[in-house]
Amino acid sequence: MKATGISNGKIILMGEHSVVYGEPAIAIPFFATAIETTIKTTNGPVSLDCFFYKGPLSQAPKRLLNLVTVIIETVKKLDKPLKNFDITINSTIPAERGMGSSAAVAVATIRALFHYFEESLSNDVLLELTNISETIAHGNPSGLDAAMTSGTSPLYYIKGQKFEFFPLKVSAYLVVADTGITGQTKEAVENIALLYHSDPKKTDDSIKQLGQLAKEAKQAIQQNKTNQLGVYMTQAHTLLDSLGVSNTILNTLVHTSLESGALGAKLTGGGRGGCMIALAKNKEHASQLSDVLLNAGAKHTWIYNMRKDD
Ligand code: PMV
Repeated sequence: MKATGISNGKIILMGEHSVVYGEPAIAIPFFATAIETTIKTTNGPVSLDCFFYKGPLSQAPKRLLNLVTVIIETVKKLDKPLKNFDITINSTIPAERGMGSSAAVAVATIRALFHYFEESLSNDVLLELTNISETIAHGNPSGLDAAMTSGTSPLYYIKGQKFEFFPLKVSAYLVVADTGITGQTKEAVENIALLYHSDPKKTDDSIKQLGQLAKEAKQAIQQNKTNQLGVYMTQAHTLLDSLGVSNTILNTLVHTSLESGALGAKLTGGGRGGCMIALAKNKEHASQLSDVLLNAGAKHTWIYNMRKDD
């Protein structure tokens, strides 16, 4: 017997980190990158085959603790024995680059296990199980990655609130650039938590400003004000940098994009590596920006049409 489960990458347009503290975020499912998990019947202990490891599940390295835990918890929830199947994970989401790969692996694997055992899976159970994995990966997840990597529409997301689907319909293109450097979401989230202790007032001000920028970006999107949206993106990057979650290459790529006429640019996701995004006026401009970013050191770029929700 064989069953599969799928999920997709995600891009946070506005609100990473501040979303952890209850501020709004705007995020987009990113179908250019995806994960498929396949479960196949075998005899004996469960084995795992993924980018980082191939072998028995019980001997998987510590870095896969979130995945191993979610597999164990999902099988427990299904009330099935943890044996007699293999798990294979194929991913085009670059790992640890702010595209939600850890949540996406969990989502695809939970879906595959439910399919395999022929049980229906509610969205609530999917998110609850994914967040077990995300808590191990990030410490204090907002739930945004779980929602986006399992969802098909952009969201205006506030932690703990009902999902607000948010069609983008903006006449602009996003260029997504991968620095090729592993992001450090856990460390970045912890760094902000430490700043909250050492300088609560300043940190809270920055988090609130990031939230305010996400709210204003929402309005700019609704009114198709792309120049304004770009300004908010760049302001968000400056704040994220001041909170210690950017790095030199991200700052260089942001700076280079702006010099090449981007309407705005910022890091996306956990930061300290991973990916950045730049807002381009049109398709041609996006393609120019993509070349400029590759020349400036980006390892890979993707172009996303923000009107495609039409
Ligand atoms: O780096 P990623 O793709 O896991 O994104 C993390 C987003 C944060 O806002 C920094 C954390 C969260 O749980 O929302």
